[in-house]
Amino acid sequence: MRFYATIWLFLLSFFLSLLPRNAEANDFSSFLTANASLAVVVDQEYMQRRGENILANFQKILSDTIRENLKNGGIEVKYFSWSQIRLKKDFLAAMTVTDCKSTWQFYESTQQTSILLIAITDANCPRLPLNRAIMIPIIDEGQELSQIILDIKVQQILRWKTAAVLLDQTILSDNPTLVESVVHESVKNHITPFSLLLYRIDDSLRSQKKRTVIRQMLMNFQDNVQTPRQFIVLSKFYEDIVEIAASLKLFHVYNQWLFFVLNEELRNYDAVSVTQNLEEGANIAFILNATEPTGTSSINCTIAELSMAFVTSISRMIVEEQSIYGEISDEEWEAIRYTKQEKQDEILGYMKDYIRMNSKCASCSHWKIETALTWGKSEEHRRYQTNLELRDTRNRNFEFIDVGYWTPTLGFITHEVMFPHIVHSFRNITMDILTVHSPPWQILERDSRGDIVRHSGITMEILKEMSRMLNFSYILHEVKTNPAELAAEEMQQTSNLTDDLLGSLTFNIPYQVIETMQSSRYFMAALAATIDEPDKKSFNYTVPISVQTYTFIARQPDEVSRIYLFTAPFTTEIWGCLVAIIIITAPVLYFINRLVPMEHLRITGLSTLNSCFWYIYGALLQQGGMYLPKADSGRLVIGVWWIVVIVLVTTYSGNLVAFLTFPQFQPGIDYFFQIFSSKDVRQFGLRNGSYFEKYSTQITTRDDFRDFVQRAIIYNNVQGEDIGAVQDGKRVNVDWRVNLQLIVQRQFEKNKECKFALGRDSFVDEQIGLMVPKKSPYLQLINDQIMHMFRMGFIERWHQINLPSMDKCNGHGGMRQIMNHKVNLDDMQGCFMVLLFGFMIALFVLFVEYWYRWYFVEKKKATFTS
Ligand SMILES: *[C@@H]1O[C@H](CO)[C@@H](O)[C@H](O)[C@H]1NC(C)=O
Ligand SMILES: *[C@@H]1O[C@H](CO)[C@@H](O)[C@H](O)[C@H]1NC(C)=O
Ligand SMILES: *[C@@H]1O[C@H](CO)[C@@H](O)[C@H](O)[C@H]1NC(C)=O
Ligand SMILES: *[C@@H]1O[C@H](CO)[C@@H](O)[C@H](O)[C@H]1NC(C)=O
Ligand SMILES: *[C@@H]1O[C@H](CO)[C@@H](O)[C@H](O)[C@H]1NC(C)=O
Ligand SMILES: *[C@@H]1O[C@H](CO)[C@@H](O)[C@H](O)[C@H]1NC(C)=O
Ligand SMILES: *[C@@H]1O[C@H](CO)[C@@H](O)[C@H](O)[C@H]1NC(C)=O
Repeated sequence: MRFYATIWLFLLSFFLSLLPRNAEANDFSSFLTANASLAVVVDQEYMQRRGENILANFQKILSDTIRENLKNGGIEVKYFSWSQIRLKKDFLAAMTVTDCKSTWQFYESTQQTSILLIAITDANCPRLPLNRAIMIPIIDEGQELSQIILDIKVQQILRWKTAAVLLDQTILSDNPTLVESVVHESVKNHITPFSLLLYRIDDSLRSQKKRTVIRQMLMNFQDNVQTPRQFIVLSKFYEDIVEIAASLKLFHVYNQWLFFVLNEELRNYDAVSVTQNLEEGANIAFILNATEPTGTSSINCTIAELSMAFVTSISRMIVEEQSIYGEISDEEWEAIRYTKQEKQDEILGYMKDYIRMNSKCASCSHWKIETALTWGKSEEHRRYQTNLELRDTRNRNFEFIDVGYWTPTLGFITHEVMFPHIVHSFRNITMDILTVHSPPWQILERDSRGDIVRHSGITMEILKEMSRMLNFSYILHEVKTNPAELAAEEMQQTSNLTDDLLGSLTFNIPYQVIETMQSSRYFMAALAATIDEPDKKSFNYTVPISVQTYTFIARQPDEVSRIYLFTAPFTTEIWGCLVAIIIITAPVLYFINRLVPMEHLRITGLSTLNSCFWYIYGALLQQGGMYLPKADSGRLVIGVWWIVVIVLVTTYSGNLVAFLTFPQFQPGIDYFFQIFSSKDVRQFGLRNGSYFEKYSTQITTRDDFRDFVQRAIIYNNVQGEDIGAVQDGKRVNVDWRVNLQLIVQRQFEKNKECKFALGRDSFVDEQIGLMVPKKSPYLQLINDQIMHMFRMGFIERWHQINLPSMDKCNGHGGMRQIMNHKVNLDDMQGCFMVLLFGFMIALFVLFVEYWYRWYFVEKKKATFTS
């Protein structure tokens, strides 16, 4: 019993310890019961270096602020002049004035005791984590660049791994710490290293020379493929750099450009006019010096501001606590009141708010960030500004948005990424896509009102995936053929005249599409088009999304007649040899039998040539004869013959099964070069609008292709296709393999047997791509997405879904390839050799028998007679 009681007690205490207990979790007293405690730490050495008694100033300013602004409650302040001090847990917050290194050390110790840190420190100090502390670097006027660069790295405003920094010589000499902060990296402060190329611009050069130097510098970055590059420009001549880089085509979709505009006279600057001549698709952002020249910057001011911020936030929190406390019971209050951590977060938020609103001293230096929205802008403008008279001369492809700003107190405050297109691509804008209904590439389904309700097909799947990857939505515009054609189409549909050929070709692009692409009004045409002489076209093709090949369709050759099936296993030679060995073996047996010296061993049944022949023939059919030779020589002949019989019979019957299982076909047309040699084929057909026609007449050197096109009937519809003639073997048609496969498939479904054969060789690889307007800045981007889809296997999958599978009726083609092996002389020579060898042994044995007879029998006779 004692034992169980102990266990129970133990379990009980264990479970109790698991219960949430506010008293323990929240041991930090509320502002209603205890005053907030603040530690002020000012480093003695630091004070000496600055030659100012900051601690005394701090004391005075802070107590004044508290006295004037804190009406209810109080703050308990302790002052320290030694930065190595370790503060106890009771402190809510600490304010420090010390150098960068000590600040970071102090921050680490406050993290262990969870104290909110408000630090005033040197310039060029990596910022403390923004959600845990406030850090204000004291920056001299005009020296903020290096801190900005450092903040960019600490706050990960740019997620770059590499960048080229172009900067003026004078800026470099004015900011001695600039290079240091540019190359600063540290694991502790989570500054990811990025490799930098530093280019100096000698700004003492005269204008023309300087431009030459800049051009030479930028030429290093020129290449044919659009390699992603990042640039940071710190130069007074940013306008020149923009212009020169634009002429070198360095503003493409993968490059990112960050310009610092340091100009004191901010009014001169106009982002839109700077980028006047840039093309759509550039990624360009500006960090602008928006400093008001009126601000005063001193450490006193900063201290006052921080004290004020702290006191007002404490005051706000006390008021809040009081208002809640009055309304609820003590237990509830215990349950909901803030923990120390929550309180600190709240104070941090309030202080930041205050500084943001009221900051007057340090934040007189203020840098604005603007970034350009360009991707797909021309599309948007076209949609919203159809009234062309409203057009102004400004570059409408560039719209600048405010990303946020930088102040020394708070670092970067941004509400948007610096380069939105790099992260969000097209930012979910709506693009216009041109298309044409053409299964299986583009399949558009319309409802009764004529709106496109569904779209599918290989091209459309690529488009869907691309819109997902590049973050845009799209509107499909089907190309309207002219009204007469539309009416005709309508007529056809109602009268059920299915004149249309199966499948499709992509060589002929409707002229409306070409016209529309020429005016370059669309993002792209989701339209499978044969890539043909891309240099001469008024639009550009993407990389191929598919490769189609041509082949021909012909009548499937008949099976070989089965009348002579039983002779099929052996070649004629073997049959001949078989007859020959029967004819030879019969006399051999006859003579061997006849010549046997012992009369009593001669078999009467084998005494005529005729009976020997039938005997051998019977043995061949495995019908045993009635007698066997009694002499060894004769037996050898018969024995060897039986071996031959076994081999022959087994080979024959085994092979016969194979010939029964796999029917033989008469030779048909398997390859293109056989087309003209076939006697039956008198007509040739070629589908209209095929690339094959152009290829054969203009590109290739193959004469048989050219002959074919010259003699071919170009057909447009089912009547012209005349598939009946093909089935009769009078005609051969050439088309895409997939289209012909459709014909084969349909015929197979109807008759359940295969009447057609496709050529075994495929010729003319026709590459199919999509179309983008000429000079589209997005071509490379689109190509990269397509390549990505290829690598993922998407495109192959969509091909499998949308194109006919190649297995229907392909069986017979395969079967024709199984050529049954006819038994020939090579296979049988061993068997015949055995027979010959047997004969020779028999002959030898015969001689032995003669010798035996002469030696024993004759000798005995001789001795007997003598
Ligand atoms: C800072 O403030 C203190 C007290 O208000 C004053 O004595 C001191 O002169 C001030 N220092 C500067 C540099 O303004
Ligand atoms: C809080 O501070 C006020 C004013 O400084 C003081 O009157 C009060 O006694 C302090 N309360 C506690 C609990 O220390
Ligand atoms: C920013 O502008 C202010 C006022 O126009 C100027 O005093 C300061 O030197 C500028 N900063 C830089 C880094 O040029
Ligand atoms: C697409 O763009 C929108 C608008 O900028 C953005 O909110 C969204 O996160 C983007 N989506 C992706 C996947 O990038
Ligand atoms: C993108 O735009 C489409 C239509 O304009 C809208 O339905 C969709 O919710 C948007 N998506 C995002 C992530 O903004
Ligand atoms: C068209 O074909 C459908 C079925 O294929 C048939 O129901 C309809 O009556 C036909 N219409 C005409 C006008 O022949
Ligand atoms: C796009 O087309 C132009 C001319 O039509 C050609 O010069 C250029 O090389 C093409 N671009 C690509 C990437 O094919």
